Amino acid sequence: MLIAEAPGEQEDRQGTPFVGRSGEILDRLLQDCGLRRDEIYITNILKCHPPGNRDPQEGEKEACVPYLKYETYLLKPKIIVCLGRVAAQRIISADYKITRQHGTWTCRKNCALTAVYHPSAILRDPSKYEITKKDFCEIVKNGQN
Ligand code: URA
Repeated sequence: MLIAEAPGEQEDRQGTPFVGRSGEILDRLLQDCGLRRDEIYITNILKCHPPGNRDPQEGEKEACVPYLKYETYLLKPKIIVCLGRVAAQRIISADYKITRQHGTWTCRKNCALTAVYHPSAILRDPSKYEITKKDFCEIVKNGQN
C-alpha cells in the first residue's frame, strides 16, 4: 500500500492517483523494481486537491484520516510506503525527517512501514531518483519475504 499526501489537479479531475507527471516517475520507479501498478494499492491522505497546491492543513488531514483507516482495515497491507514528508509525518511520526530517514523501517500491528521521497521531489531534483529506486527495490525484496 502506497500513501501520498493529496491528489494533484489532474488526479482530482480523473479520480485516480498519480496520473500526472509525478505518476510517470512513480511508474518508472515501480517498473525499475519489477512491480506494476495493478500489483499495489495507491491512495492519498487527503481525498481532494488542496487549492493552490499548498500543503494539506491539519483539519483537512484529520477529516480524511477515517477514510484512510478504513482503506487500511479492508486491505490489511503487509507493507505501507509513505510517499514524501507529509504522509510520513502523519503516518509514521510527527517528527519524521524524510532526508535522513527515508528507507528505514518501523513495525506496527503486523505491518512494516517505511517512507521514500515523493515523486514530485524527484521532478524537482532528479538526483533523488537513484536513491529512491534503491529504497523501492529494497521494499520489493522485503515484500517477497
Ligand atoms: N501527488 C500526490 O501526493 N498524490 C497524487 O495522487 C498525485 C500527486
